[in-house]
Amino acid sequence: MTDSGATVLPGLAEIAEVGRDRVRGGYTRHLLDHAERTLRDWFVERATRLGLDVEVDRNGNSWAWWGAPGPDAFVTGSHLDSVPGGGAFDGPLGVVSALDAVARLQAEGHRPSRPTAIAVFAEEEGSRFGVACLGSRLLSGAVSPERALALTDADGTSLEAVLASAGIDPSGVGPDPDRLSGIGTFVELHVEQGRGLVDLGAPVAMASSILGHGRWRFRFTGQGNHAGATLMTDRRDPMVAAAAVIAGVPALARQHGDARATVGRLRSVPGGTNVIASAVEFWLDARAGDDTVTQALVAEIAAAARAAATANGCEVSVTEESWSARVDFPDGPRTAIDRVLVGAGGRPVPVLPTGAGHDAGVLSAHVPAAMLFVRNPTGVSHAPEEWSDADDCAAGVDALTRVIRELT
Ligand code: GLV
Ligand code: MN
Ligand code: MN
Repeated sequence: MTDSGATVLPGLAEIAEVGRDRVRGGYTRHLLDHAERTLRDWFVERATRLGLDVEVDRNGNSWAWWGAPGPDAFVTGSHLDSVPGGGAFDGPLGVVSALDAVARLQAEGHRPSRPTAIAVFAEEEGSRFGVACLGSRLLSGAVSPERALALTDADGTSLEAVLASAGIDPSGVGPDPDRLSGIGTFVELHVEQGRGLVDLGAPVAMASSILGHGRWRFRFTGQGNHAGATLMTDRRDPMVAAAAVIAGVPALARQHGDARATVGRLRSVPGGTNVIASAVEFWLDARAGDDTVTQALVAEIAAAARAAATANGCEVSVTEESWSARVDFPDGPRTAIDRVLVGAGGRPVPVLPTGAGHDAGVLSAHVPAAMLFVRNPTGVSHAPEEWSDADDCAAGVDALTRVIRELT
């Protein structure tokens, strides 16, 4: 590995101290918290320095326009929020690369032939309000404003209240068909979140597809009680029921080919060492290439949850919080990008599927969308070990620059 792009790429270096997670390491930047607001301000400052006009849309997404907004726009960008304790690249790499690409094109005197913008989508990770790609979903009408505004974070604060406190009018939240139909092409550059490019020995790839994926909340309730005074035969302990289900998740997922299932978050109420919990919640993230497989897997896990609840004298409810169907990116933009990048390097651009969700996936149901991936030598993501070499980041900026130059 050479130097990390996080310290060498100017934009990433500028934001390297914003939202550092002192407990986990890496970054915690959640929708409209202090760190994410700092990044929003940084983006405005950076884009304004390039002479771009920045606006925040009705759903809290930022748009930096190179020239006047208009129809058939070329839009690139990604997101600036993170998972808890995430890496430096997931999201910011796409934003920083877009800013660098525009700067390079301006320096060479390029004048875009169509409206061109850098977009930063809000709450892509769904880490604060639970619904992945919330900004692009609201924009495209994939989630209703009523449902979105009522979502609450871990402290019980609603999205409606958080938006209002940030000066974003909650009554404006919802589908934005004019903005959506104005996007002629969307290209998102992103760090690769696996080892596909490492295995291929190439710095940059295009995306072919995204696994269908969703999130489900499992809530077990039992009898809160005294840890010392309650006989082992006398308990209705939701922690035991939840643990039994979680322990069985990997084996159930392995029966379904490429399916993946994860429980990464669990909450015990009230959460006392000497207190049998009265309620335990965990969140299941399940994914597969075939959406019927994902649904079947979740149904099996829900059945296991009901059985475990009964066995422990508890009750359980299962609620779907987020769902994204499988995405197959269209041939059109990919062919156009391939033509540009092959022409540049003479080598065909690899095409890779991904198990990670993206705003480009949400948007691809409505507009021609494509993705560029940049090699990640650790293959690790959603963790501080996420990595991209400076040389590969430069190759990503170079690819995006060529794509913008040719497609605008
Ligand atoms: C976001 O990166 C996701 O795949 O959940
Ligand atoms: Mn992510
Ligand atoms: Mn991302």
